[in-house]
Order: sequence, then C-alpha cells, then structure tokens
Amino acid sequence: MTHVLVFDSGVGGLSVVAELRALMPDLYITYVADDAFRPYGEKTETQLKERLPGLLKTMALAVNPDVVVIACNTASTTALAEIRAVLDIPVIGVVPAVKPAAQMSKTKTIAVLGTPGTVKRKYVDKLIADFGNGCQVVLHGSTGLVDLAERKLSGQDINIDDIHAEIKPMFFAKYREDTHEENNHGENIDIVVLACTHFPLMMKQLKEAAPQQVRWIDSGAAIARRTASVLNKLTLNKVPDYPQTALLIGGQKNVTRARMFAKFGFVKTVIL
Ligand code: DGL
Repeated sequence: MTHVLVFDSGVGGLSVVAELRALMPDLYITYVADDAFRPYGEKTETQLKERLPGLLKTMALAVNPDVVVIACNTASTTALAEIRAVLDIPVIGVVPAVKPAAQMSKTKTIAVLGTPGTVKRKYVDKLIADFGNGCQVVLHGSTGLVDLAERKLSGQDINIDDIHAEIKPMFFAKYREDTHEENNHGENIDIVVLACTHFPLMMKQLKEAAPQQVRWIDSGAAIARRTASVLNKLTLNKVPDYPQTALLIGGQKNVTRARMFAKFGFVKTVIL
C-alpha cells in the first residue's frame, strides 16, 4: 500500500479518486478539498499562485504522503510549477485531454469545457498549439457547472435545464472574438474535453443536456496510470493505521456530502 494525497477545490477530485481506486484498489488516499477558496475558476492567477504552494506544503507536512495528485485543472494549469518548487515529493497534475481529443476528432472540431480560469490559461493555448492536430477548438468556461456538481454531491437535485443553459453557448459557438470570423464550429463539435474534474461527476446529466451527440473525454484514467507508474519507482512510506479521511478546509458540516465521500472510500470527513 502507498499513500497519495489528492487535492481539489471541492468534490471534483473524486472523479480522479474513482480512477485511482479502479486501478489501485489498495491505495491509501487522503483527500483535501479547499472549500474555503472555491471556485478556483473565478480566482486570478496571482491569487492561486499565492495560496496553493503554501497550502499544499502545509498539508503534505501534516499528512506525509508519498505523492501529491493535484486533481484540479485550474490549479494544475496555473500553479503546478510553484507547487512542485516547495515540495520534495512527486507532484502529478491534471492536463486537459486536448491531445487524444484532437487525434480522435473526425470533424476536426473539438471543445474544451473547463472553468473560466482554465480556458484562459496560456498553458491551454500551448496545449492546443502543440497537440491541436489542426482542429478548431471551441473554448468554453463555466462556473455554474462546478456549482451544480457540488450540489449534486451534496445530495441536492440538479436540473437538466440548468446544465443545458451552461453548455448551450459552446454548441452554438458561431463567432470568434479574436478573428471576427463567422463559423459553425459549435455544431461541428464531435469531442468535448472535460477540463474540470468536477464535470465527469455529472456525465449522465451532461449527455442528457447536450443538444447533439458527442464523445466526452477526461484525464482521470491517464492520471491514475501516471500515478501508478510514479509510485512504482518509489521507496514508500508506512501507510497510516487510520481510516482514510477527507479533510475539508473551511467546509460546512453536511451529512449527505460526508456520505458521498464515504462512497469514494473516505470513511472519515474532518472539517479544518
Ligand atoms: N475542479 C476544479 C478544476 O478541475 C475547479 C473547480 C473550481 O473551483 O472552479 O478545474
């Protein structure tokens, strides 16, 4: 057994936890959710770069994991280098799955659906420049979907119309601000990259709400494989003799949410 710290701004990292557990059922995971500072997608690069290295350093010192997985696209595309600089253990980040999507697309039109922060990052522009494979890429940011995923995992009903309203502009994207070009990119999209870890938690609802049939892909399984290969090369810490725990920074006590964490293997939920 090995010990991995999985970090996200909220419940989104649970979509990555599901893939880690599927690949490595014996893994000991401590989950950290930064409820106090969510949504990350609405924060500036400076705010995230100021907060994340210190926070992850403190958590890693407290928890003593073998590896840290930043299960958050917004944090990874903004502050991965800064987080790595303060930790002396491997740090694995999430990379939006632009490369496989661009290779798979038959219409040569893909969408990147992330937070407003992620779709603005230079990191994503570079991914598209390097691996876009000549595809048109519709970038679409939504904080509403993050909130809906949080509500879903807190046991609240979520409305398909609300999801539809969040994704509709992506499928009807007909105009590029930068080139002033009229186009029909939105209706040609055949692959959507889920570039926020919250979104795969609503897969069923996203499929139902989409105005056209598309393939949805995310990076969860790839991160799990990467984590397994990094762990293979390490001399490992002794795993705590303690129930696997979700640490919620500044969260509110919520029994349904705690039950949801338990379904993903976090028997204890502690609010910090
Ligand atoms: N789950 C996060 C991501 O992958 C961010 C959600 C948020 O706090 O905006 O980007």
